[in-house]
This record gives sequence, structure tokens and C-alpha cells, in this order.
Amino acid sequence: SDAPPPAREDGFISLGSVEELESSGLLKSQDAALASVLVVKANDQIQALDTTCTHQGCTAEWDSAEKVLACPCHGSKFNPDGTVANGPAEAPLKTFEVKTEDNLVLVKP
Ligand code: FES
Repeated sequence: SDAPPPAREDGFISLGSVEELESSGLLKSQDAALASVLVVKANDQIQALDTTCTHQGCTAEWDSAEKVLACPCHGSKFNPDGTVANGPAEAPLKTFEVKTEDNLVLVKP
């Protein structure tokens, strides 16, 4: 039941369908290689981010109202492109290449 999706030659992994992303505003991966990756759609842009906070490593969560990734530990906030909106974090979140193809949202680990 948890069979991994077939590997793609281009190295991208599917996180779900474009409809899923459109309806929920975010996608999370079931794939171990992308365990901390979140895909969000904000300002008509699809972004794939590593939610591991660059301050001390807590997991940032998507705030769909504010359109930021907010870290529950010390209040850092990150813009959808990963850049810091609010400290104490100083470095941006890691981002990943993302694209859509055949109605799939694909991320390169
Ligand atoms: Fe995220 Fe400190 S670990 S703000």
C-alpha cells in the first residue's frame, strides 16, 4: 500500500496533483527523501520549501492567513520564497526546484 511512486528519469518526485494543491493550498510529501518539504501556493507562485527552521531546527508551519511559514519555537517567520520575514532566524529556508507536469506537482530533492 505504501509502494513508492515510480522513479522519474528527471529526478523529480510527485507530491500530489495540481487540484490538491489548488484546493488545500499546500502539499506535503509522503516520500522519505522529501520528509520535511512543503509545497505552498502563494501569490500565484508554487514554492517548495524545507520547513526546518534555520534558527534552531524546529519545524515551521504554513500560516495560510498571513501567507508565511511560522516557527512555533521562537517566532521566526519566513516568506513563501523562503526569505526571512521575522527573526530570530537570519538565514532563509532551503528551497527546492518545483514544477508542474501532467497535472502533477513535482519537486527535486
Ligand atoms: Fe525556529 Fe528558533 S527554531 S525560531
